[in-house]
Amino acid sequence: MAEVFLEARNISKTFVGVKALDNVDLTIGKGEIHCLIGENGSGKSTLIKIIGGVYKADSGIIRIEGTELRGMQAIESIRAGIQIIYQDLSLFPNLTVAENISVNQMLESNQQKVNWKQVRETARKALAEIGEDIPLDERVESLSVAKKQIIAISRALTQNAKLIIMDEATSAITSEEVSHLFSIILKLKQRGIATLFVSHKLSEVFQIAENITVLRDGKLLGVYPSSELDEEKLAYIMTGRMLKFEPYRYDEQMKDPVPLLEVKNLAKAGQYRNINFQLQKGEILGIIGLIGSGRTEVVESIFGIDGADSGSIMVSGKEVHIRNPRDGMRHGIAFLPEDRLTQGLFDVQSIGNNIVITILKSFLKKSRMLDVRKKKQAESEWVEKLSIKTPTPANPANSLSGGNQQRVVLAKWLATDPKIFILDGPTIGIDIGSKHTIHEIIRDLARQGMGIIMISDEAQEILDNCNRILVMSGGRIIREIKDSTTISRDELLDVIAKRVETGADA
Ligand SMILES: Nc1ncnc2c1ncn2[C@@H]1O[C@H](COP(=O)(O)OP(=O)(O)O)[C@@H](O)[C@H]1O
Ligand SMILES: [Mg+2]
Repeated sequence: MAEVFLEARNISKTFVGVKALDNVDLTIGKGEIHCLIGENGSGKSTLIKIIGGVYKADSGIIRIEGTELRGMQAIESIRAGIQIIYQDLSLFPNLTVAENISVNQMLESNQQKVNWKQVRETARKALAEIGEDIPLDERVESLSVAKKQIIAISRALTQNAKLIIMDEATSAITSEEVSHLFSIILKLKQRGIATLFVSHKLSEVFQIAENITVLRDGKLLGVYPSSELDEEKLAYIMTGRMLKFEPYRYDEQMKDPVPLLEVKNLAKAGQYRNINFQLQKGEILGIIGLIGSGRTEVVESIFGIDGADSGSIMVSGKEVHIRNPRDGMRHGIAFLPEDRLTQGLFDVQSIGNNIVITILKSFLKKSRMLDVRKKKQAESEWVEKLSIKTPTPANPANSLSGGNQQRVVLAKWLATDPKIFILDGPTIGIDIGSKHTIHEIIRDLARQGMGIIMISDEAQEILDNCNRILVMSGGRIIREIKDSTTISRDELLDVIAKRVETGADA
């Protein structure tokens, strides 16, 4: 291994009642790309906060280039060359790109007057170091998450970073943006800067990491060169469970003479056109395509969020007119949106209220008063049915982990008793244990006769769970794969990226 840059030994940390870290070690070489992986709650963020001097460890030591960080204070760790990019990125939304990149340096230099020329020069230089070109005067709030990340990385570079730590950097960006981020990490490496990439997503880890440190329940399970592991082994180490199942197979016996859903010539100017497909009872139909392929727009029209310009939608053989989500629900359609935090969940409301919100009317007594007992009973039933981990449904939704929040959103829609369930990115940002549970729930619903449409960025998720796949590009369906077991992941990716003839008109 390269010369050691960071060495953390026997780190322990207890919060009230929780042993977040139990005797954990972490070693990172100079310029190394290292991945820290573990399920939600395994202690990853706590460990990096200790390295960053945000928390003080109860015991253990940290050495940087052989010198012990005695005070374990933020300033000490920054001076030693450690820069942490937290999930919230800690940017100032109403300042410009240049100001955000240079702000830390400005604050440190203690100058009385801001030298604007220098601010821009610092920012330009930092961006150029990683080959990026973002307009310096743009306000940061108008930028995408991926661009904001690049700004946070550039800001780290102005502080003479030798190790950049990224906490769950990929949870809010698309797979294309992830590839771009990885190319930046490689550029950092060429400059001798190490990266600690914190994640719970297995597939990404293998694309980038040289070595992998695995945590589970605050304990170190091991350190592995990534060449010695594959996704399946790592999943097993991380969760202690075997998380493999057979691809979902459709039982043809469930097919009705009339399809559950039929979409004919659906079109919307500038978004999609010529959309034709059917969905049978018990099917899990995958729709996959790059961002901008029109996949989300099509399903939003079917549910009534933003109607189509022309074409027709039939539910169980009858044409329906869906002008808004209420119409969609009335026709037995449920929709789990891509962004659960802004669209699916009122995070300060209780878990229970989130679940029953769409069916509140059914708890009204004749007197028009709410039957609280009945409501509470329904809340508890759903919490139990979907194994939502909480002591009580009265706790706020934001007290839950991502995977459990997603189960709340699932419960909310299942409570409406839908016949057709559209799931857009059902497991984005969720750790693999929870992801597996959500896949099991979806499969069970299909087996019971629900028709399911699943959209995902992840080809593997679609291949594992869908019996049939539609590939979209440029607002059109460019390929139908009638039996998902007949195509490999790489072949599917080629179709999505249009690296192969699709047979569709251009
Ligand atoms: N400030 C805190 N106060 C109390 N408990 C905490 C605090 N931060 C983290 N924890 C707990 O410590 C454990 C590890 O959390 P964390 O390091 O955030 O895990 P990860 O980043 O791997 O998801 C969890 O059980 C979490 O609830
Ligand atoms: Mg974390």
